[in-house]
Amino acid sequence: MAEPLLAIRDLRTYFISKNTEVRAVDGIDIDVQKGQILCVVGESGSGKSMTSLSIMRLVPKPRGKIVSGEIVLDGQDLLKLTEQQMTGVRGNDISMIFQEPMTALNPVLSIGDQITEVILRHRKITKKEALHRAVEMLKFVGVPRAEQIVREYPHQLSGGLRQRVMIAMAMVCEPKLLLADEPTTALDVTIQAQVLELMRKMRDEFGTSIILITHDLGVVAEMADHVVVMYAGQVVESVNADELFEQPLHPYTKALLQSIPSIDADHEVLYSIPGTVPDAASFPAGCRFAERCPLAQPSCFEKAQALREVRPGHLVRCDLVEEGGV
Ligand SMILES: Nc1ncnc2c1ncn2[C@@H]1O[C@H](COP(=O)(O)OP(=O)(O)OP(=O)(O)O)[C@@H](O)[C@H]1O
Ligand SMILES: [Mg+2]
Repeated sequence: MAEPLLAIRDLRTYFISKNTEVRAVDGIDIDVQKGQILCVVGESGSGKSMTSLSIMRLVPKPRGKIVSGEIVLDGQDLLKLTEQQMTGVRGNDISMIFQEPMTALNPVLSIGDQITEVILRHRKITKKEALHRAVEMLKFVGVPRAEQIVREYPHQLSGGLRQRVMIAMAMVCEPKLLLADEPTTALDVTIQAQVLELMRKMRDEFGTSIILITHDLGVVAEMADHVVVMYAGQVVESVNADELFEQPLHPYTKALLQSIPSIDADHEVLYSIPGTVPDAASFPAGCRFAERCPLAQPSCFEKAQALREVRPGHLVRCDLVEEGGV
């Protein structure tokens, strides 16, 4: 396979205080290919957001710290860049969109001013040219009356429009990688479908690679080329999307897929996985899912499991899964 656009190697991001060490991200490896949409799924607290904030090097300070690993974008390890070099990467090579657009938009700047600000930070063009580019981008993401909207302020726009403006702002420098952390959770279904469609259009048009974090397996089924399942700060399964739905191998992934509400009348109750994610300040020594796993053997509680390739391109962190994947 071609060189990945992004290669994360043994990334560890911890929250360190006097008496505790919360291992939010605990040794993950993820590859993202050019033009690929990679979905990251997993229960609340599994380390999804901290993974994407680590890529941006925006882990909450002072306690949050990337303690080791590599995040290689196009051959360059982002963890080795100075803060100033990193400022040149954010918004230019990598952009991020959030669940709540107001976190990305500045309430006291007009839409035009904030989009041109991003462009002028990274490109040597005139203000007039930047404004022209901003209007073009707003049109591309389907914002009506773009010439007027650039003069308006975030609070004057509907939630759906704000989402589009945020996406326009993230895409205006044509980043190689877009990070989207639950971008549609707060939106109604029609707007959610439009935003997903828009992200696909970005990928098709610009070849953008996208890491899409979501709780929603329906979104995964619709969007993902590749899926990474996270549990307790680790990757427990990594495989292309078709194979994930056809042949999930990790007991946790199987449980997640079972929790999709089914339209069958005899399956009305949403299956939920019994128990809770272990405390990230004191992970058990063995398999982190063993406590909740219906298949757990005594050995699972003793021995930490390694991520293994059991079929070509299909990685699983469970010793019970045999070579070939059964
Ligand atoms: N500011 C913080 N201080 C201490 N611990 C934190 C902080 N932010 C997150 N954590 C811990 O890091 C771990 C991973 O959190 P993260 O936000 O990445 O989870 P997530 O998978 O994004 O969950 P969700 O689906 O709820 O968004 C959790 O155990 C969480 O409690
Ligand atoms: Mg999160």
